[in-house]
Amino acid sequence: MANSGKWALITGASSGFGVDFARELAARGDNLVLVARRVEPMQALAAELERAHDVRVKVIGLDLARTGVGAELLSRLDAEGIVVDTLINNAGYGLFGEFVDQPLQRTLDMLQLNMLTLTELTHAFGGAMARRGSGRILLVASIGGYQSTPTYAAYSASKSYVLLFGEALHEELRPRGVTVTVLSPGITATEFLKVSGQKATLYQRLVMMRSRPVVRIGLRALERGRASVVPGWLNAATAWSNRLMPRSVQRKVAFLLMRND
Ligand SMILES: NC(=O)c1ccc[n+]([C@@H]2O[C@H](COP(=O)([O-])OP(=O)(O)OC[C@H]3O[C@@H](n4cnc5c(N)ncnc54)[C@H](OP(=O)(O)O)[C@@H]3O)[C@@H](O)[C@H]2O)c1
Repeated sequence: MANSGKWALITGASSGFGVDFARELAARGDNLVLVARRVEPMQALAAELERAHDVRVKVIGLDLARTGVGAELLSRLDAEGIVVDTLINNAGYGLFGEFVDQPLQRTLDMLQLNMLTLTELTHAFGGAMARRGSGRILLVASIGGYQSTPTYAAYSASKSYVLLFGEALHEELRPRGVTVTVLSPGITATEFLKVSGQKATLYQRLVMMRSRPVVRIGLRALERGRASVVPGWLNAATAWSNRLMPRSVQRKVAFLLMRND
């Protein structure tokens, strides 16, 4: 496909979903800004995508888990004349284990990235999009955001924030020409479990999806202007079943399914 002349900013583009978002958007003809801490995998990906498609790819090595990065990235890209038409708010991670047994700072860093940085980026780039009257924002939440999840207590709560924040923004920004879509994947084969420190449970091994189809489902939902999507019928059924199940039961089931022993 010919270069669309548009730019997509993808956070967390050094592994997992972020790499597949980059591949899919480059194949659609978008220029890309890739952001994460590990630069080498993004540079290799950039070279591959520039060779395969007629697109430009800019790599930014940045720790996003700190205050101020949203406005910083916006002014850095503004200075280079790069106008971001699509923001993929994907960078994030989970911490597996009981909350009080984790060092507090690790949890606070995770909340900074999963919620506050995502909020800042959405404010900076979403604000610019609303002023222009066009743009698209995809927020990566999780099926874990549909209920409380013991052993991922703070992580699943952070994803509940992303889910509800994104669905609210969908309504606020639609009349201003900006589409906001929340993608809530279930367990997927990326580096997620390695980073969270969890050995895959039998349940997770049975239901695990591949990253590429999840990303395609998310982008299709964004293109169709949907508020929210849960990829995979089993994940969708799980999210729906929570509407029928008392919350006291939901969290006990989640606890059972997450157990490593
Ligand atoms: N895979 C799943 O089962 C699953 C399910 C539901 C939701 N999700 C969500 O999907 C999103 C992507 O995760 P993934 O599954 O693709 O896992 P992944 O392979 O571990 O990718 C996470 C990405 O986030 C980046 N990242 C982490 N900390 C960062 C920081 N401080 N600054 C900048 N970038 C940072 C990582 O890059 P660097 O390490 O290079 O910085 C990496 O590119 C996350 O929001 C995750 O919560 C995943």
